[in-house]
Amino acid sequence: MKTADQARPSEGPERDRQVRRIFSEIAPRYDLLNHLLSLNVDRGWRRRAVDRLDWEGEPEGSYLDSCAGTLDLSLELTRRKDFRGKVLASDFAHPMLLEGIPKLSGSSVIPVCGDSLRLPFPDASFQGAMVAFGVRNLSDLSRGFREFVRVLKPHRRLVVLEFTEPPNPILRHLYLLYFRRILPLVGGVVSGHPWAYRYLPESVKDFPDPENLAELMRAAGFRETSWELLSGGIAALHVGIR
Ligand SMILES: C[S@@+](CC[C@H](N)C(=O)[O-])C[C@H]1O[C@@H](n2cnc3c(N)ncnc32)[C@H](O)[C@@H]1O
Repeated sequence: MKTADQARPSEGPERDRQVRRIFSEIAPRYDLLNHLLSLNVDRGWRRRAVDRLDWEGEPEGSYLDSCAGTLDLSLELTRRKDFRGKVLASDFAHPMLLEGIPKLSGSSVIPVCGDSLRLPFPDASFQGAMVAFGVRNLSDLSRGFREFVRVLKPHRRLVVLEFTEPPNPILRHLYLLYFRRILPLVGGVVSGHPWAYRYLPESVKDFPDPENLAELMRAAGFRETSWELLSGGIAALHVGIR
């Protein structure tokens, strides 16, 4: 079993290996824990992310779901009534994609095993890109955003959903208590991989706040960046236009 210190996010390629291993190990329990630990509010957040993608402008287009995991965000888009395009769902943890495949049944989601820092797609491939709870894990956030700029067509959008800390001090206190104490405990017991669920609060701790995340997006080449807080600021939804 890994110690608390080993659950701290590493740097560079070591971090990539650590993240891939964590998600490969917890993949069979990921969906259950996701909905349980978020009390199901994660579903509403993913709906909101797809609402902000502007896919209606090009309903037959190709869309990227990066760090796609078990494919819930991809499916949220392909299940929209007027959507006639496809979603390339990329993730470097093969077991996470495998967990999602039984949910696909005839949908136009195409799972691809690939690293978000070296996306296996040509320049200007997509009419839109989205990533839910993925960018926090990237070993080089700026490089990740530059990759999204590269694969997006001009004037099209990136939508980023990520955890953040609520601005209200009371809510923040409760949130941190939950995130640092209850979540690692329940996640560790149910998944059987305690160190993986100690990694989650550690990865949020050093992550940029929404203001700074928007700045990183601008520096990578996105314009008209905006963000909104969800559920009192537990999560934030960012939009940037390429
Ligand atoms: C917290 S899960 C989110 C999964 C899914 N987007 C969701 O909303 O449930 C983070 C996912 O990002 C993937 N990931 C992290 N870093 C990655 C990278 N550099 N390239 C590809 N996938 C990555 C992990 O394998 C994991 O499946």
